[in-house]
Amino acid sequence: MYSRIAGTGHYVPKKVLTNTDLEQMVDTTDEWIKSRSGIERRHIAEADEYTSDLAVQACTAAMEAAAVGPEDIDFIVVGTTTPDLVFPNVGTIIQAKLGIYGCPAFSLEAACSGFIYALSIADKFIGTGQAKCALVVGAETLSRITDWSDRSTCVLFGDGAGAVVLKPDEDAGIISTHLRADGRYKDLLTAKTGVSVQPEGDALSDGFNVQMAGNEIFKVAVKSLESIVEETLDANGIDKSELDWLIPHQANIRIINATAKRLSMPMEKVILTVQDYGNTSAASVPMALDVAVRDGRVKRGQLLLLEAFGGGLTWGSALLRY
Ligand code: UT7
Repeated sequence: MYSRIAGTGHYVPKKVLTNTDLEQMVDTTDEWIKSRSGIERRHIAEADEYTSDLAVQACTAAMEAAAVGPEDIDFIVVGTTTPDLVFPNVGTIIQAKLGIYGCPAFSLEAACSGFIYALSIADKFIGTGQAKCALVVGAETLSRITDWSDRSTCVLFGDGAGAVVLKPDEDAGIISTHLRADGRYKDLLTAKTGVSVQPEGDALSDGFNVQMAGNEIFKVAVKSLESIVEETLDANGIDKSELDWLIPHQANIRIINATAKRLSMPMEKVILTVQDYGNTSAASVPMALDVAVRDGRVKRGQLLLLEAFGGGLTWGSALLRY
């Protein structure tokens, strides 16, 4: 039994922060941000707008697209780095806001790979018959852990959410998922203060923010993504020429270019949202998927390769017939 994506949705907060806005905040330029990352603007949540709020909007759109109601959902998994609270887990908060009762609901932390990890787990539950209608979510308010005085990171991130509804299908759906991690690289991308690790002195605000060795991450990202996309195709005996769309994590246009090149895919076959949304971590892949489904590029029956890479380091892919 396959698990098939029955509906997709995404949501971004209304407030837009452009590169020109950022020129007023830190020592940077529109030209630098665009040429180094591909980002032109990003959306930022209001102070009273939480990760769960963005997720609920994305889930509602995905449920409408799949023509299912709260009573149909029997599994909820959320990839996020920025849950509303330490606990209750944000999956249960989303569950309550959507009026869904009783089914398992949880979140997992795998940074930018969170959605791919969540999709892989939900796929297994559907495949074994333990779930019949799963909500799989990637949602972030990264602006909350962004150091707005650090030009090397604050120009990169944005807020948003994406969601899919997964249902069983005998004919088509998720063909395989591939998950990887290498904790030896854990210090390259980190927010050093958390729950068990307490801040020293008054370092809470510094330690809580994203710190990134961008250049080193860049190199590992390109290498790891090239290898996982090849592994994914090899595992299924599929030639790269058979792929209809690459739907990558939207961290940096140059990383995306490198993966597309390895797959010999022209950029016309790559879904890009990085220019409009920046890096929304776990939300970026389901957001890009929904954008392309809604504008008609991604069609039923097409072969999609999804991939993501992020802190941990973690990375992963999913090959699916949409
Ligand atoms: O989401 C998953 C994980 N994250 C990623 O995959 C991100 C991976 N890394 C990247 O996307 C890129 O490394 C960045 C976009 C973060 C940076 O691009 P880069 O080409 O690697 O630049 P760099 O870090 O090597 O910095 C080049 C120069 C430096 O100046 P010097 O030392 O050469 O004089 C930086 O200080 O650019 C400077 N710089 C900036 N200049 C203007 C750094 N940030 C900025 C800025 N505006 N915002």
